[in-house]
Amino acid sequence: MSERVIPLVDHRMRTLTAPLPAQAVPATGWLSDGLGRPLRDLRISVTDRCNFRCSYCMPKSVFDNDYAYLPHSALLSFEEITRVARSFVAHGVQKIRLTGGEPLLRKHIEVLIAQLAALRTPEGRPLDLTLTTNGSLLRKKAKALKDAGLHRVTVSLDGLDDATFRAMNDVDFPVADVLDGLEAAREVGLGAPVNGGPSGLKINMVVKRGTNDDQILPMARHFRGSGTVLRFIEYMDVGATNGWRMDEVLPSAEVVQRIHAELPLVQLDPSAPGETAERWGYVGANGQHDPALGEIGVISSVTQAFCGDCNRARLSTEGKLYLCLFATEGHDLRSLIRGTPAPDGSLHAPASEAELASAIGAIWQGRTDRYSQLRASLPPDVSVGTGKRVEMSYIGG
Ligand code: GTP
Ligand code: 5AD
Ligand code: SF4
Ligand code: SF4
Repeated sequence: MSERVIPLVDHRMRTLTAPLPAQAVPATGWLSDGLGRPLRDLRISVTDRCNFRCSYCMPKSVFDNDYAYLPHSALLSFEEITRVARSFVAHGVQKIRLTGGEPLLRKHIEVLIAQLAALRTPEGRPLDLTLTTNGSLLRKKAKALKDAGLHRVTVSLDGLDDATFRAMNDVDFPVADVLDGLEAAREVGLGAPVNGGPSGLKINMVVKRGTNDDQILPMARHFRGSGTVLRFIEYMDVGATNGWRMDEVLPSAEVVQRIHAELPLVQLDPSAPGETAERWGYVGANGQHDPALGEIGVISSVTQAFCGDCNRARLSTEGKLYLCLFATEGHDLRSLIRGTPAPDGSLHAPASEAELASAIGAIWQGRTDRYSQLRASLPPDVSVGTGKRVEMSYIGG
């Protein structure tokens, strides 16, 4: 019989209020946190459910039939999400990524996309609007997403070998269907370059040593020259359920070495400040990067923390604001906008636009989170902080 792990503390229980600050923090399009980092990127989780059970994210032993997902009434409505997003945009957010769980499981997600696509930055520009998906529903949904105004999409794919992929998603889902979903995204134009940059289509592959690292080269060969950017992600100690071990992390430097040995690479300049991925371009016959061959990215959250310019905020499915992927508690914006009792029992009227902006502004100004940096400075067996970390399926990647 397999071992069953029972979470001792529900990750959603630790909640901070989002008080209205004594001094207003108006939205000026520029907000700096306690370490001087701006707010540029908002990740919105629209559901805590997923139809996959990747062991590094939603292990079956925890996320089983008895797992208590959030009830529908707890979720922010599309109107509430858009209202909160508008306030973030007024504070300087330029990119919004919808995540989950699996965001395409949220009914009528295209309605939310249309609402978010209508938002404009203080300078009048549209947002960079994107979504992370496991691709299983993309064939069905790609056109509706594109028509609603989604610009681009990132698909999680941990290998090309069908048996390896089925084992990693742990629900026996065939790789061919995800590749077909990717094709559907391309067909409807979700792969078009955004702002003159590389393709809008990206693939995220989480690399676990001994599980799917034999897929690195087949993935690189498959996507080289395809107009799709393949990114390799170091397996992270996120959440509290995946049983993370350092010896299962394959450092990005080794990923680059392995690919470079067969398909030469040169390092490329970052395309945006605060970017998660380091970019490497494939070299053509003239020894230089050949844009037709494309590029890969490596995301080294474990071996090379990138907290120094982290400009990402995360909004959970039930409207809590998390300041770090490794946070143990979130700030309850839902009580604020609904005017319902806050976790500490206090009651207030639904916040006005200015009040919501002030609350978000004050929370960001107080932010000093830099988990990966702190963890990197400690021995691997020593953990940072004492609280139970929030799950990635709840606040999104
Ligand atoms: P692009 O705009 O498409 O480049 O998006 P992105 O680089 O923000 O990428 P994405 O959301 O696809 O993130 C890729 C992966 O990087 C996530 O799934 C996480 O594993 C990891 N990641 C993203 N943001 C953070 C972060 O703030 N901290 C850490 N430690 N890891 C992150
Ligand atoms: N380590 C690294 N990335 C993870 N993801 C989820 N769990 C982990 C983890 N433990 C990321 C993957 C996936 C996205 C939805 O979340 O990139 O593509
Ligand atoms: Fe689902 Fe993505 Fe988590 Fe896998 S990594 S269980 S596809 S949310
Ligand atoms: Fe940002 Fe936290 Fe990730 Fe560091 S660990 S990059 S602060 S989300």
